Amino acid sequence: MTLEQIRGAARSLAGEILPTPLIRAPRFPGLESVELYLKLENLQWTGSFKLRGAMNCLAHLPPETLRRGVVAASAGNHAQGVAYAGRARGIPVTVVMAQNASPLKVAATRSLGATVILQGSNYDEAKQFAVALAEREDRAFIPAFDDPHVIAGQGTVGLEILEALPATAAIVAGVGGGGLLAGIAVAARALGGPRVRIIGVQPTGVDSFRPAIEAGRVVTVAPPRTFADGLATREVGRLPLEILRAARAEAWTVEDPEIARASFLLLEQAKVLAEGAGSAPLAGLMKHADRLPDGPIVAVVSGGNLDPFVLDRVLWYGLVAEGRLLRLRALLDDRPGQLNRFLQVATDQGANIRQIHHEREAPGGGPTEVRVEVELEVEGPDHAGRLVEAYRGSGWNIRSVPLVPDLRSDPQGTGR
Ligand SMILES: Cc1ncc(COP(=O)(O)O)c(C=O)c1O
Repeated sequence: MTLEQIRGAARSLAGEILPTPLIRAPRFPGLESVELYLKLENLQWTGSFKLRGAMNCLAHLPPETLRRGVVAASAGNHAQGVAYAGRARGIPVTVVMAQNASPLKVAATRSLGATVILQGSNYDEAKQFAVALAEREDRAFIPAFDDPHVIAGQGTVGLEILEALPATAAIVAGVGGGGLLAGIAVAARALGGPRVRIIGVQPTGVDSFRPAIEAGRVVTVAPPRTFADGLATREVGRLPLEILRAARAEAWTVEDPEIARASFLLLEQAKVLAEGAGSAPLAGLMKHADRLPDGPIVAVVSGGNLDPFVLDRVLWYGLVAEGRLLRLRALLDDRPGQLNRFLQVATDQGANIRQIHHEREAPGGGPTEVRVEVELEVEGPDHAGRLVEAYRGSGWNIRSVPLVPDLRSDPQGTGR
């Protein structure tokens, strides 16, 4: 794979994709002294960079093949890319998605005119079905990552970064099958030389990249469970791995809660809506800030197709992780005015009440007591600490109830 192939892809994509903005990031926690930029592929048409590879792949198919239509398998973002590219050329597209694919991504793919078949319990099973279907119907299969045209298309992300910011010291992107990072690596090595660090991030629940880089061969992991559904691929592709090893790419891992916190911070502080795969690079940077070189660092926000129900959980998780929600429990005498007195402490401290439960027959309560559990919005851990002290100082025997949301994707819900 050469820079020329990526330049060729850029020429064929001109006018067909959005050259996305590269913005200076706000000062995220732990990264205050880092010159950090965000490459906003979440703003790409179809909501992710996947459009680039799909468009470029279709541009290389002979017209008679195109006319028969194409088949793809995807967790959702490649599906939308192929559906969009197919519609632009007026050809039929069939996409096979796993039965538990994000409802948002399924609906978006259908609304782009593609036929969606839900098959298999994960991406790899969906892919097997799609490859067989393409063979049976003599239609071209459009790979999601293990293909030179797809990689060259994704590489245009790297080209745009290096052209806008020639001094780039490191580029960090999420790794599923590795097509995005491989394309970026080719552009960055050619234009930035060996000094540009190429860093791929995966959730610990996937972790197929680091062992593959170390062993020099594709490593298959168990069906992944992660909230970053775009990265839930059981193995990195052969060609991406070859390119990434030659480019001396690095592999970092992050936990799902760290990815969720990064999505929350991107939304709150940068006003950027990122799905898990798109916020994993920021999570990696916040976790491994000590490993960064001097100079401009680019985090690729590769997609923004976050299901609203998952967004709801991300917001809640982020508020908990930032210490902005507090749940307190106390036993009160069951007498008129007690609840009022109890809540007055929160009011005096400027904490807003989010939820309240007032239960007579609660476990642990005596016959003359009620149990009150109140969830409060606070400014952060310091405010929470002052509030707890104020309660204790006015004689209330309160207990702080931990808030620990589960952010792993629900197999029946939102993830791949
Ligand atoms: C938003 C997003 N980011 C990153 C990736 C990973 O891309 P690749 O499979 O090329 O490594 C995907 C793959 O679906 C994705 O949808």
